[in-house]
Amino acid sequence: MQRVFSGIQPSGIPHLGNYLGAIRNWVTLQQDHECIFCLVDMHAITVWQDPAELRENTLRQAAILLAAGINPEQHVLFNQSAVTAHARLAWIFNCVSRLGWLNRMTQFKDKAGKNRENHSAGLYVYPNLMAADILTYKATRVPVGDDQRQHIELANDIAQKFNNDYGVEFFPQIEAIIPPAAARVMSLRDGTKKMSKSDPSAQSRIEMTDDADTISQKIRRAKTDSEPLPSETEGLTERPEARNLVGLYAAISNITAQEVLNEYNGSGFGAFKDALAERLSVTISPIADETRRLLDNQDHLLNVLRKGAERASAIAEPIVSEAEKLVGFLK
Ligand code: TYM
Repeated sequence: MQRVFSGIQPSGIPHLGNYLGAIRNWVTLQQDHECIFCLVDMHAITVWQDPAELRENTLRQAAILLAAGINPEQHVLFNQSAVTAHARLAWIFNCVSRLGWLNRMTQFKDKAGKNRENHSAGLYVYPNLMAADILTYKATRVPVGDDQRQHIELANDIAQKFNNDYGVEFFPQIEAIIPPAAARVMSLRDGTKKMSKSDPSAQSRIEMTDDADTISQKIRRAKTDSEPLPSETEGLTERPEARNLVGLYAAISNITAQEVLNEYNGSGFGAFKDALAERLSVTISPIADETRRLLDNQDHLLNVLRKGAERASAIAEPIVSEAEKLVGFLK
């Protein structure tokens, strides 16, 4: 059975992009994989996090994942900083990875923007820690949204260079599992920008804790154009907002964008948005309700994460110890 690893940052509230691009697939992969899911708090602090908020966000993130269907009995759910093997392997990878490789990372360029000199060194080496997360468990399949594709390619370069440098076949190659639909959900306010936890406007995203009224209000206010929906997907090429909403409808209903257009071509956005909001609510509202219920019992959540960290450590420890031996550390 192949091992799956994936992670999500506990910064802010996860949104529909996180759900359709990643979390929903994590839930499905549990059926026929051994899965390890991680709340990457060490990645979160690469940009400033208020400590109390980070704690709160980590617990809420755990609750959302459980509510969405992650099974912590059969699989592993934990927070990254609780398993020190990640940091140990990340340091080795900081020494394997090349500055030239990191300089090509588009996510760093996007996040750092013009003010590059003032960002943390952690943000720059972020992809090395991400490679360490996966390879700490020698996981081979990584379900992520499209924005993480380049980081997975870098993880493969690091694994290969480690193997070459030390003359071993130690780390496996990794396969990114990117969903066919909704791999890149866009902002509801601007169809050219990714839906993101860090967007200052909460109107730009559907959060996984939104109730039905909030979802419906955000979808009704979502930016669109004045044309009716086209009959073919080619007609969406130059219409990023319309394309995004059609993509959301397709993903949440498990049909293709063309099938959506077969039903709605020629219609305006009013009825279409109502139907979309309804479909989103049917999926999200039960998750939001269950999240609230789980958050009432924080001891249970802490216990799940503690047990998850113990099980993760038991898998990680022999692998990272072996990597340290290969490097030449006295063990
Ligand atoms: P993060 O926390 O930004 O996002 C978590 C997951 O959600 C996906 N995602 C999206 N998918 C579609 N549309 C969007 N608008 C959208 N926004 C986010 C992301 O692709 C991701 O799969 N670096 C990672 C966390 C991480 C990780 C790992 C992932 C750390 N170590 C090891 C996999 C393996 C991140 O920041 O995800």
